[in-house]
Amino acid sequence: MANSQQFDGLRPFYAMEILAMAKAKEAQGVEISHLEVGEPGAQVAPQVREAVVNTVLNDRQGYTHAKGNASLREKLVTYYRAQHGVIVDPDDILVTNGSSAGFTLAFLSAFEKGARIAVTRPGYPAYLNILSSLGFEPAEIAISAENGWKLTAEQIRETHKRAPLDGLLLASPANPTGAMVSTDELKEIVSVCRDLGIRFISDEIYHGLSHGDKEATALQFGDDSIVINSFSKYYCMTGWRIGWMILPKSLVRRTEIMAQNMFISAPSMSQVAAEAALDCREYYDEQKRKYVQNGALLTKALNEMGFRDARQSDGAFYAYVNIADFSNDSIEFCQKLLERGDVAATPGVDFDRQEGHNFVRFSYAGARADIENAIEKLAGFLARPV
Ligand SMILES: Cc1ncc(COP(=O)(O)O)c(C=O)c1O
Repeated sequence: MANSQQFDGLRPFYAMEILAMAKAKEAQGVEISHLEVGEPGAQVAPQVREAVVNTVLNDRQGYTHAKGNASLREKLVTYYRAQHGVIVDPDDILVTNGSSAGFTLAFLSAFEKGARIAVTRPGYPAYLNILSSLGFEPAEIAISAENGWKLTAEQIRETHKRAPLDGLLLASPANPTGAMVSTDELKEIVSVCRDLGIRFISDEIYHGLSHGDKEATALQFGDDSIVINSFSKYYCMTGWRIGWMILPKSLVRRTEIMAQNMFISAPSMSQVAAEAALDCREYYDEQKRKYVQNGALLTKALNEMGFRDARQSDGAFYAYVNIADFSNDSIEFCQKLLERGDVAATPGVDFDRQEGHNFVRFSYAGARADIENAIEKLAGFLARPV
């Protein structure tokens, strides 16, 4: 039986709890604006749907190689060559059940139990929860709106000096801020980690969704980082549970054995879909352009309504804004916004257990009409006393 000790360090994912409350309201016939969950509203590209129908009709869906279909891994080699000019060995690629499986595999394969692994605060909540539940020691590095929510190489040095780090996990573009480090900044981060003996894990799940400059991959700066990526965001495939990792040679076999035992293989149908998706960049770039427009519209409106730090982010599809002028309790704020305003948003405490009570994340990956509707409801909600 589980004892309470086992839940030390674990927290609920409030975005999912707000989603559950929103669904309950919808079941009563209320129309809710969904800005809480970080997933694209669009369908996958038509060619992806066709490929899946074909494989369902014609192929047996069985286990695949634990590292994924060879044809998908070859396509990923092409992707890195075309997008980044980097040559990847298909043997170093492991197809995963979303990037979520990639984190577990990376942590267990690269570190000893109890290793100290740094993440940013705010950051994606599952990082802390996975680290804690696997028996690692998370170290949070605070980043701020004043610095564009960017992690610096200097902060890594300082944190390591206070207590040595074994690993660092960074997403760029990031969740919940959408912040992205430049190519030179990423290069410096990779190099500082190498100098200090810190294993760098690059979460590249929001690649393809930069609003400006193209994202760099950590692979451009050497083959000692672990790169984790996913088809969930740019390729609009959250529910297909498919992603991949690129591993340093020394970790490939160990990670493969873990994947064989923990997951057997990624879903065969999703691997076929993913392979087709890699050829559909035109369609997905079009979706990205819509997010950029939604972001401009939403951040301008949030600014005018009096939310602090509301500015167009560097990438992804999130606005992470300061609500201090309205409330100092983001959970209560989001509950009331849902109850009285019919807008679902995510309380900042999901991403930052210390300062998150002052922040809310709005996801703008839905249709433009949904964003316009949400802005109107939000303004109405704020106009009434909270
Ligand atoms: C930064 C980041 N990494 C990883 C994930 C998990 O994605 P998936 O397991 O669907 O690939 C998310 C989901 O929101 C995310 O925001």
